[in-house]
Amino acid sequence: MSIAVGVIGMGVMGAKHAQLLQQITRGAHLAAVCDANAARLTDVQAERFDDPLALIRSDKVEAVVIASPDETHEALVLAAISEGKPVLCEKPLAATTRQAERILEAEVIFGRRLVQVGFMRRFDPAYSALRAAHLEGRIGQAVLLHNIHRNAQAPSWFTGAMALTNAFVHEIDISRWMLGEEICEAHIFSGAGDEPLMIQMQSDSGVMISTEVFMNATYGYHVHAELVGREGAVSMATPTQVWLNHGRQHGHGWPDNWLPRFEEAYRQQMHAWVNSIKTGIPSGASSWDGYMASAIAEQLAAEMGQGDAQGRCVPLSQPTPDALYVTHAPISERA
Ligand SMILES: NC(=O)c1ccc[n+]([C@@H]2O[C@H](COP(=O)([O-])OP(=O)(O)OC[C@H]3O[C@@H](n4cnc5c(N)ncnc54)[C@H](O)[C@@H]3O)[C@@H](O)[C@H]2O)c1
Repeated sequence: MSIAVGVIGMGVMGAKHAQLLQQITRGAHLAAVCDANAARLTDVQAERFDDPLALIRSDKVEAVVIASPDETHEALVLAAISEGKPVLCEKPLAATTRQAERILEAEVIFGRRLVQVGFMRRFDPAYSALRAAHLEGRIGQAVLLHNIHRNAQAPSWFTGAMALTNAFVHEIDISRWMLGEEICEAHIFSGAGDEPLMIQMQSDSGVMISTEVFMNATYGYHVHAELVGREGAVSMATPTQVWLNHGRQHGHGWPDNWLPRFEEAYRQQMHAWVNSIKTGIPSGASSWDGYMASAIAEQLAAEMGQGDAQGRCVPLSQPTPDALYVTHAPISERA
């Protein structure tokens, strides 16, 4: 039986998810699409909706991918939960912590995990290899994690503190997932015009985590991580398949955006989500993980908003998850 999936928002990410469902994913197919801009739907072979709530309620749709802008996520995830339909919601789970909290409340009342957040880096082979090296003890006790997050150019819809609430949430999630620990405090430093950002965090056991977020680094999309332990270090290799020799230079190119770099992660994420619907065993980041990422990002955004707050210590709140989010496995063992 193939699961009928509806995709809401057919921009950069929605088109990618739709393509995966149409061309690669086993056990599911693209049944419906919706976009506020009808021109985005003209070439799509699936039922078209102009109202996302009608797509979610349609009896032709069994599961939903949400890839519309951040501020639309809350209402759409809540609608899917009230229909009892599984959701793969693009990150961030919601535009604000309060919105993410309302999603948690609804899912807890429903009594079963229905939401997977699109923190696809958990499915990236390079991040997975770093995490495995740590969990298998190959680098000894972890002491430092260095993250780099550079975009060629911020998306046109980037506003306000989105470098934190939309982009840096990736590093919050991947750091919690890779270390299997919570983050207890942070310091934020910003360049002129709040770019680039340098965020230093500390995990519960004292691992120091540095992250550079540079949304307009111009030369290309570049994500990197290195995990340093007391007996070794493991870092991502250069993400390329060929070396180019040209004009007295040796090297490789950088992509314009995240799609080529995380192609395999998006593919594996979709497979895992479809499989989780079939087996009933959740995969990937939960709405609790989505909430934690947004909550940390929002606390840092509030600190950055103070203007004169360079480098001050921000103690982070340590909320307790509902049993729904801890019954399966501790974060250190989750996929
Ligand atoms: N996981 C990742 O690597 C990754 C990368 C980029 C973006 N994202 C996330 O994906 C989401 C979409 O980003 P994008 O880059 O694809 O943006 P985009 O602007 O390319 O696409 C968004 C689409 O949603 C449509 N839309 C707007 N409001 C809508 C509504 N109410 N109902 C239906 N459609 C609506 C727009 O017309 C547009 O086509 C964002 O939440 C973003 O944070 C995730």
